[in-house]
Amino acid sequence: MIVTVSNYRIALLPGDGIGPEVTSSARDLLAAITALDSSLVFQTEEFGWNAEQYLRTGAMMPSDGMDTLAKFDAIFLGAIGDERVPDHISLRQVIFAIRQGFNQYVNLRPVKLLGGVATPLAGRGPEDLDMIIVRENSEGEYSGLGGTLFPGSHDEVALQTSVFSRRGVERILRYAFELARSRGWPLTSVSKGNALNFTGVLWDDLFAEISAEYPDVPSNNLLVDAAALHLVQHPEKFGVVVASNLFGDILSDLGAALVGGLGFAASANLNPERTFPSMFEPVHGSAPDIAGQNVANPVASLWAVGMMLAHLGHVEWEDAIVSAIESVLVEGIVRTPDLGGTSTTSEMTTAIINALKAPSA
Ligand code: NAI
Ligand code: MG
Repeated sequence: MIVTVSNYRIALLPGDGIGPEVTSSARDLLAAITALDSSLVFQTEEFGWNAEQYLRTGAMMPSDGMDTLAKFDAIFLGAIGDERVPDHISLRQVIFAIRQGFNQYVNLRPVKLLGGVATPLAGRGPEDLDMIIVRENSEGEYSGLGGTLFPGSHDEVALQTSVFSRRGVERILRYAFELARSRGWPLTSVSKGNALNFTGVLWDDLFAEISAEYPDVPSNNLLVDAAALHLVQHPEKFGVVVASNLFGDILSDLGAALVGGLGFAASANLNPERTFPSMFEPVHGSAPDIAGQNVANPVASLWAVGMMLAHLGHVEWEDAIVSAIESVLVEGIVRTPDLGGTSTTSEMTTAIINALKAPSA
């Protein structure tokens, strides 16, 4: 029998705070996957692009950083953020630079309640909470365009421009419809066309146009405020949720709260055309309050590795990773402090890796 070996080059960007701790969990998981299936090989290379580097060199990333990353098959990012560097500099120089520079216009965020995890919603369980948020990741409210007039004076004016292009909105809506079709899930488009009379209206018009191309996908649209209400009151009605950059960002933190908190929120920044590498990361930040203590919950990071495997064509490994995570949570013995336990990041990582089973061929 000929066994084809898939060899992937993965760039690891541990970043700041708990970033290096959860990236170490991710690296251990990749090694464990290769141990279970020798046809999957990961060559990892680590880049110390963080606040320390900024303080030393004046930049988070070297000037050829994007060219370096472009040669990899995928990027894993821990977290960025350090009180010594303003967030709008550190996050923009790394996370936003990669998302925009590599045209990672899809941000995927699963909102799935696992067994063994408590939701703050009374009377709800895993069968009620299983959806995925598709957030536009390249333009919208986070385009970065704008300016300040008369800075520091009483007349100071700040302008932040939202950018909604027909091309950008169409491609994110199409991506969401395709995902909904492939899963057999309903789709909800979230916008604010009543108040945002230019950008919101363009979004809603294009949603109406494209939904006509997918008559087999049940779809509706909600105003973002109503969507926040419905997500809490009727989470079972949601499947794929598609929203602009800002709305998707906010709703996915609400979603994270419904399924156990930031320790469980994983995300993928995808370049669907694969012209550039995609980037996978836990949604949480650098958590300076717990950094360096080996107590961060590694689940979001490990789940992000699962999303990376799915993007590389091994979706069965994402399922295997999520099952391993769930089995440790259901057992309830090894738990980090955010889950009411006393286990360390390393102990929880080891428990999940020990529970990992190679998917049956
Ligand atoms: P955060 O996500 O770092 O932390 C919020 C709270 O959740 C903290 O109490 C923290 O201890 C807890 N938490 C986060 N992840 C956890 C985990 N894996 N296990 C257990 N507890 C966890 O958000 P915060 O405090 O608002 O921001 C801290 C820094 O991170 C800032 O500099 C911010 O700009 C940056 N940030 C970076 C992000 C990224 O790299 N993608 C995303 C969000 C924030
Ligand atoms: Mg957010």
